[in-house]
Amino acid sequence: MLRPRYTSLIALLTLLPLGAAASQTATDRHIDSLLAAMTLEEKLGQLNLLSAGGKASPEQTALVRRGLVGGLFNVIGTENTRAVDRVATTESRLKIPLLFGLDVIHGFRTIFPIPLAEAGTFDPELAEATARAAGREAAAAGINWTYAPMVDIARDPRWGRIAEGSGEDTYLGSLFAAARVRGFQESILATVKHFAAYGAAEGGRDYNSADISPRTLREVYLPPFKAAVDAGVATLMSAFNDIGGVPASGNAWLTDTLLRREWRFNGMVVSDWTSVAELIPHGIAGSREEAGRRALTAGVDMDMQSSIYVETLAPLVQSGRIPMAVVDEAVRRVLRAKARAAALKPVAPNAVEHRALARRAARESIVLLKNDRSLLPLDRATPVIAVIGPLADNQLDPLGPWHTDGKPEDVVTVLQGIKTRVPSGTQVLYAQGAGIEDPSTAGFVEAVAAAQRAKVAILVLGERHDMSGEAASRAYLGLPGVQQQLLEAVAATGTPIVLVLMNGRPLILEWAAEHVPAIVEDWYLGVESGNATAEVLFGEVNPSGRLPVTFPRAMGQIPLYYNHRNTGRPPAADKFTSKYIDAPVTPRYPFGYGLSYTTFAYRDLKLSAARIGPSDSLRITVTVANTGTREGTEVVQLYVRDEVGSVARPVRELKGFRRITLKPGESRPVELRLAARDLAFYGLDMRSAVEAGTFRVFVGPNSMEGLEATFEVAYP
Ligand code: BGC
Repeated sequence: MLRPRYTSLIALLTLLPLGAAASQTATDRHIDSLLAAMTLEEKLGQLNLLSAGGKASPEQTALVRRGLVGGLFNVIGTENTRAVDRVATTESRLKIPLLFGLDVIHGFRTIFPIPLAEAGTFDPELAEATARAAGREAAAAGINWTYAPMVDIARDPRWGRIAEGSGEDTYLGSLFAAARVRGFQESILATVKHFAAYGAAEGGRDYNSADISPRTLREVYLPPFKAAVDAGVATLMSAFNDIGGVPASGNAWLTDTLLRREWRFNGMVVSDWTSVAELIPHGIAGSREEAGRRALTAGVDMDMQSSIYVETLAPLVQSGRIPMAVVDEAVRRVLRAKARAAALKPVAPNAVEHRALARRAARESIVLLKNDRSLLPLDRATPVIAVIGPLADNQLDPLGPWHTDGKPEDVVTVLQGIKTRVPSGTQVLYAQGAGIEDPSTAGFVEAVAAAQRAKVAILVLGERHDMSGEAASRAYLGLPGVQQQLLEAVAATGTPIVLVLMNGRPLILEWAAEHVPAIVEDWYLGVESGNATAEVLFGEVNPSGRLPVTFPRAMGQIPLYYNHRNTGRPPAADKFTSKYIDAPVTPRYPFGYGLSYTTFAYRDLKLSAARIGPSDSLRITVTVANTGTREGTEVVQLYVRDEVGSVARPVRELKGFRRITLKPGESRPVELRLAARDLAFYGLDMRSAVEAGTFRVFVGPNSMEGLEATFEVAYP
């Protein structure tokens, strides 16, 4: 018989604010008492996570009543979450509240730029603010748990999910990971995902195997997860992929040895969507119960959508094949997450503020890729402007691949943004020209005619929102459909062209890069898409976004990333060096790259010491001048290269950056700090250490330029 004090966990949990060690212990004590009162079936029920279609189905509600569901996701709206939570907290035997999950990735109702775009702001505080806003809106709709941030490093633009993360760089990705965790967790629990190396899918094909060295795993793919753990992330999601034959959702080394023992993560691990059942097709389990046993004993606490734990594991626990202690520990983690969710104090969302924040984020995310002879910014009083392309007046696609509760009607299109900014004397001609993937060229005539009449043609081209994101790998990275032909047909009119791109990944843009005078990378900017774009086109805003990922010149160059190793035969004139016989090795646009309407010059790079010890740090100063005629923001980037190590080190690694805004003619010293411990890497013995030796420092505007200096690290 249950003692009354176990009957209302919800009251109990809300009474126990998290954070103070004493309350933490008290929560744990209560959780232990609750565990003692649970049947095995109820325990496995807490580990069961099901997706609903907007609201819980009658069948799901019945399972909740029986205590066989620990959480639901995709239940949206407080009416719906409350209705089923009421069943859990009043009609189930133990009255344990549910977790309500949702993929709140780059906004809930107010849709912000996609995470990849936002990483290009090099402004983690901004990402913290947008995550906070998204968390507040989601919490107001009954959600207490998001499946974000996605922190997978992605070096392969074929992989559609590159849109959801922070790009190719580990340092930048780690800062954004921690910032987003802090932002979300004001109001809802965050989930860092997908653990691990999901972004290393071979061939950029989603769900594919990753086979990377332990060193690359540790140095490149894992640090953003560690940063999220250190920032206090409540939950972590195990990935779909295998790493060298061991699927991440049944990998005890990953989710137990590394995560829990080495990193001391004490939160909950949730599987990805049916990734427990997928251990069968992976080929490491011959049955559902075996798949469940592998996953649970590896440390995957909650089973998303497979229903394997709740339906098949009881006999294995009863027969001792799965120790009860393993089940209890998983349940404890789920209940702790619930206690943590109950202790959150969400702040009410402010739609007006969020909209303003969306504008700021959109402005800062835009990257100016090319601007020959200063075609941009445009004069608003240009008598006739043609606006062309399938994304020019499109309200759906700027929302990006995950737009949760975002509404197309909230989106300002580029055409609308332009129209509201031009004086009455300016004529804006619009022609869609083509569809995104549609093979028809019937609309070209109208588009060409509009361009012929105009002084400038703005083409808004790119991908449909669902051409990136999950299950959206592409083998060809040009403009889809007949958009390339449309671009060439419009360019043939001789009217100067501005190409505005909307896409969730780097595209291969060789023709445009050579023939189009101005290129603006919008990514997917969310609801303020058209306003921010028009502000940039007309020069109200000077673009300051930088590429968080390399743009290749050719498919065959992929994977192409800035922090590669040098090889024994770095590319040179000699034939027998590491290169292609039919394409350059250099990127079209490198990591960190982005232009401004002004120009910046770097001088006087100085280091505070020529030699430092392993626990010292270095002050690096450089003077940056705005040498143009407009105010502008520069992202000053610091890279290092370890000349000689026990293992070969990358040719450059980002170690710091600073956004600075300078008036025309203004120059300012910028200081960046580099601690010797930031130079640590996994040496021959696979221990992370700082090795003595000479390091090169580069400070400049992107990963291929900059001033250089050297210093030494010496042990006393
Ligand atoms: C995705 C996850 C997502 C989950 C729940 C999966 O298919 O890989 O990123 O959080 O679905 O929607």
